[in-house]
Amino acid sequence: MEDQPGKLRTVWRELTGSPYGISRAVNAAIVALQRKLRTEYLVGMPTHIAIEVTNRCNGTCMLCPVAEGRHSRPLGHISWKAFRKLVDEISAYARFVGLYNWGEPLLHRRIYDMIYYVKARRIYTKISTNLHAFHARDAERLVETGLDDLAISLHGTSEESYQAYQPHHRLDGVLRKIKAIAEARSRLGSKTPNIHLGFIVNRHNEREIGKLRQLAESLDVDFYLEHTSLNLRLLPFDRNMNRREAGEAQLCRERLASIENWLPRNGGHVFSWYQYIRDHDGRLPPVGKWYKCIAPWYQTIICWDGDVNLCCGSFDRRHSVGNVFEESVRKVWNSRLYQAARRSIRNRRRSSDPWVLCNQCPGILL
Ligand SMILES: C[S@@+](CC[C@H](N)C(=O)[O-])C[C@H]1O[C@@H](n2cnc3c(N)ncnc32)[C@H](O)[C@@H]1O
Repeated sequence: MEDQPGKLRTVWRELTGSPYGISRAVNAAIVALQRKLRTEYLVGMPTHIAIEVTNRCNGTCMLCPVAEGRHSRPLGHISWKAFRKLVDEISAYARFVGLYNWGEPLLHRRIYDMIYYVKARRIYTKISTNLHAFHARDAERLVETGLDDLAISLHGTSEESYQAYQPHHRLDGVLRKIKAIAEARSRLGSKTPNIHLGFIVNRHNEREIGKLRQLAESLDVDFYLEHTSLNLRLLPFDRNMNRREAGEAQLCRERLASIENWLPRNGGHVFSWYQYIRDHDGRLPPVGKWYKCIAPWYQTIICWDGDVNLCCGSFDRRHSVGNVFEESVRKVWNSRLYQAARRSIRNRRRSSDPWVLCNQCPGILL
């Protein structure tokens, strides 16, 4: 927790550090108010924006739909020109930009220019990466972009647990790269990026949390624990995201098998929904039970092809709520579908449109 003078310093820096400081602060205040009122049409614009620079991935993460070979939209990457236009457009209100969604950001050949471009507009910037495409010789280059937050998908502190989640990749190589980045940061006397080891707690690594703490300390980085998403919401669909032939009894069996294979035994690291499913023979609880979500009031996800998703759990292209290459971000932010999503959350009432994702969402990344 930051102390009070530290907080004031941060607010002051944000206000004065960019020509957009004041407009971002006013926008954030409007967003906070609208979030409380839960209005459907929003005057305030999203403060947190993810830009998926590419949806290609070189990872093999066992619980990721991309690595599973699921296809929703074609694979590709955003062009440098479209990226700059987009960042120019959101600069007046965005306070946080994450340059990733589905896919590996370091596969975009202009990723360093992109981070630099966002940072030049004094926007807090983050990437999440598996580091497989990273070369240790680029460590200083990465630090010099000004990136604020670097999350590294690690998910294991031994080759065995690491490879249980990311087969065909080696932990020792990734650790060498992390060390190179932390050393470059200290060599350059830079406070950034904050480096975090992301650790999805699962059946294979749950006994390693103490070791993770030691590892992070020895590398001079932080870590965070994440609840596993089993992506059960995608089970009824085939690789092309078309409904497959599977009855409820079969889906129940598949849900239980996934829970048995992956969920940690320690319930403290498990979304309560999964416990419900385990205790009810694989059946899903009624939608709305634990439903709380504020995402469509302050954040948005822009895919590489301009399509806009409601949250990072949205995978199917048909759930997109607009396209920012065809219309302005402001227009999409208040599109019919975006408003329907907000209405669906506020009223817990089925919207008439079958593609409003929030209608069926339990409020976690199921
Ligand atoms: C889909 S990844 C894409 C970015 C990049 N390729 C990476 O590996 O970090 C984005 C984030 O989603 C998280 N993630 C992926 N699969 C997950 C799962 N099954 N449960 C929870 N988080 C997950 C990762 O830890 C990562 O921080």
